Order: sequence, then structure tokens, then C-alpha cells
Amino acid sequence: MAIKTFGVIGAGQMGNGIAQVAAASGLNVIMNDISEEFCKKGLSNIEKLLGRSVEKGKIEAAEKDAILSRIRTSTNIKDMADADFVVEAATEREDLKFKIFRDLDAACQPQVILATNTSSIPIGRIASQTKRPDKVIGMHFMNPVPVMKLVEVIRGLATSDATFETTWDLAKQFGKTPAQANDYPGFIANRILLPMINEAVYCLYHGVGSREDIDTVMKLGMNHPMGPLTLADLIGLDTCLAIMETLYEGFKDSKYRPCPLLRKYVEAGWLGRKSGRGFYEY
Ligand code: CAA
Repeated sequence: MAIKTFGVIGAGQMGNGIAQVAAASGLNVIMNDISEEFCKKGLSNIEKLLGRSVEKGKIEAAEKDAILSRIRTSTNIKDMADADFVVEAATEREDLKFKIFRDLDAACQPQVILATNTSSIPIGRIASQTKRPDKVIGMHFMNPVPVMKLVEVIRGLATSDATFETTWDLAKQFGKTPAQANDYPGFIANRILLPMINEAVYCLYHGVGSREDIDTVMKLGMNHPMGPLTLADLIGLDTCLAIMETLYEGFKDSKYRPCPLLRKYVEAGWLGRKSGRGFYEY
């Protein structure tokens, strides 16, 4: 079935980025969140980024208007009845995602693929909330979505070949390069990235180095575009902690235990860029 209308659940930093790349690829987009305020904030972020692309001469002003005109917002999940493919990019909480998938299963046409942008919750567990586990798949975008080339496509145990192929092709249509992962905690990206970030937090916790020195070592010594603590602030410390918990719970291996300092920051509400304070101040 041709995909014309693309649904996104969540208008936050991942959701609005996904909505932007989908609309830029020519699809009509329905961007859903729980409040008008969140939808407006997501839309204004897209507008700001597209405005910057116009200023830099990367796109014409008319193209910006055309992309924006293809995005409509919604606060009722039942509006996803009009979507041909849906990706969920809500907060990284299992109970929340389970409810969203039950609601999507009820709202969407039976042939519609329900993808999740989860960074580490098992696809099979999310799929089991629906009556269409063969049509549930992971479509994991990287932050910032408009810039990062990768989409990790994760097959659950029950994901069908047709679901996989449609999702793979859609990632390409968005101008991204897909990579395939199987359904184990953290998949590929976060199984590798988060223990590295967690170790950087341990270095800070143990006083091995200052936040600046830890980041400088990884930036200049390993050519990473950002130091691990700066990157943690970009991802969100709550999301980092949630991923470490999933790795720890999933493997029951102590090498994945979250650093107590990471937990302390999250408990204090120091969540990174989005809250104005994380390992750095914004
Ligand atoms: N949103 C959209 N575009 C952005 C952006 C944002 N938040 N931040 C930067 N950009 C754009 C800039 O506008 C600029 O665009 P042009 O090339 O068109 O001018 C381009 O990105 C480069 O930006 P800058 O020159 O300002 O800065 P930079 O060269 O340092 O690049 C960066 C910024 C792309 C974010 C780079 O630092 C980087 O790649 N960092 C690592 C990001 C990363 O690892 N992401 C994965 C996180 S893990 C994840 O997302 C998965 C998960 O589940 C946790």
C-alpha cells in the first residue's frame, strides 16, 4: 500500500524532527501530542529549523512553506485513523508506550504498520500490546533527526518481511541510511553508545577528570563530534538513565549498572539541555 499520510506520536525533540523529515520527503504528516501547547512548540521548532535552512540558502522559502503546509497537528490519537504508517516517539516509559500502542491498534486501519522510535524497550514487548505484532517494528532515529543520517530498523521476533521492507524503504525515502538490528536490549546503537556515556559519568564521579577534560579527551583524542557528557545533555539524562536501566534489567549483567551520579542528576531534575541544566548549564 502506498504511504501518503504519515503519523507521528509525540511532538518533542525526536517527534518534531521525524515529522520534519517525513514532510520534507513529500508525505502529509499528522503530528500528535497530548496538548496543544506541546504541538505548537514542536511545530515552531520545525519552523525555526526550516527558516535557518532558507537563510543559509539550502532551501527556497516556497519549499519551507510547502513542507509546513503538509504538517497538521492533533491531540486526539483517534486522528491516526487517517495515517498509512505511524511512528511513536513518546517519552521513554514502557507503561506509556504500551498504552499508546493499544490505542493505536484500536485507531488505525488493520494494514497500517506501527513503528516505535524507542531507544531500548524490546520491540516484542511493545508488539504484544497489539493484535498486529507482525506489523510492529523499531524505527530508531538519531538526535538531531534532520542532521543524523542513520535510522536503526529493529525487527521484533514476529515482525514480517513486508513490514521490514516497507520501513527500510521509508527510511531511504527520508534521505537516511538504514541499518538492521535484532531485538536485544539497546539494539546496536545504544548497546554501544550508552555504556560509553555511562563510563564517562563514572570518570566524573570518581574524579578522574573534570567534565571539560573528559569531553576534550573524547573530542580531540577520538574525533567524536561531541564529548560524551555534552552528548548526554543533548540526549537527555532521563533517557540515558532509562536506557542503562533497560540494559541492566535485560542482561542482568553488572557491567551495565547506571552510575549513581547519573541517577542523582535525574532525581534533581537536571536532565540536560531541555531542563537548562545537566552536566553543563544552558
Ligand atoms: N537540530 C537540527 N539541526 C541541527 C541541530 C539541531 N538540534 N544542531 C545542529 N544542527 C545542524 C546545524 O544547523 C548545521 O547545519 P548546516 O550544516 O546545514 O549548517 C549542522 O547541524 C552542523 O551544526 P554545527 O556546525 O552548529 O555544529 P556541529 O558541526 O558541532 O554539529 C551535531 C552538531 C550534528 C549535533 C554534531 O555535534 C554531532 O554529530 N553530534 C553527535 C550527535 C549524536 O551522536 N547523536 C546521536 C545521539 S544518540 C541518539 O539519538 C539515540 C538515542 O536513542 C539516545
